Amino acid sequence: MDAEITLRVDGATHQLTLDSRTTLLDALRERLGVTSPKKGCDHGQCGACTVLVGGRRILSCLSLAVAQNGNEVTTAAGLAPDGELHPVQRAFLEHDGFQCGYCTPGQICSAVGALDEVKQGWPSHATPAVSERPPLTRAEIAERMSGNLCRCAAYDGIVSAIEEAAG
Ligand code: FES
Ligand code: FES
Repeated sequence: MDAEITLRVDGATHQLTLDSRTTLLDALRERLGVTSPKKGCDHGQCGACTVLVGGRRILSCLSLAVAQNGNEVTTAAGLAPDGELHPVQRAFLEHDGFQCGYCTPGQICSAVGALDEVKQGWPSHATPAVSERPPLTRAEIAERMSGNLCRCAAYDGIVSAIEEAAG
């Protein structure tokens, strides 16, 4: 069954008619030509397709586009709307947080979402005391970023970049 939806992506509004079974990732890449989110595994295991919806990170391969009707979707490209890099993007450059770059847009969206979760005081499995604000240790960052795989193994630079971006 087809559905008519509106998606706001990186500040632009799009009206779409699509099969209601279309994932957000396929709607972005195949219908809108928004190629910043990457298709790695297509079933929720690699994090390459991570985008932000209303500021929260989600795996776009696991979300139906119809479920995001009317929502604000931000991709890694949308974090630098006028060519001005987001602090997380700058830190990835400074710390060699990527090699081939395939996982990088997802890593960057996930890092932005993770830093916001820390700011909100949300604990993770690595947080020592859930009653206190999570300290941004390397273990804390690694735990929060564990859903984003990098086959080039740029993990050390990625964690350093996130540490720096956190300030
Ligand atoms: S493509 Fe979505 S998690 Fe791998
Ligand atoms: S930089 Fe190549 S997969 Fe991460």
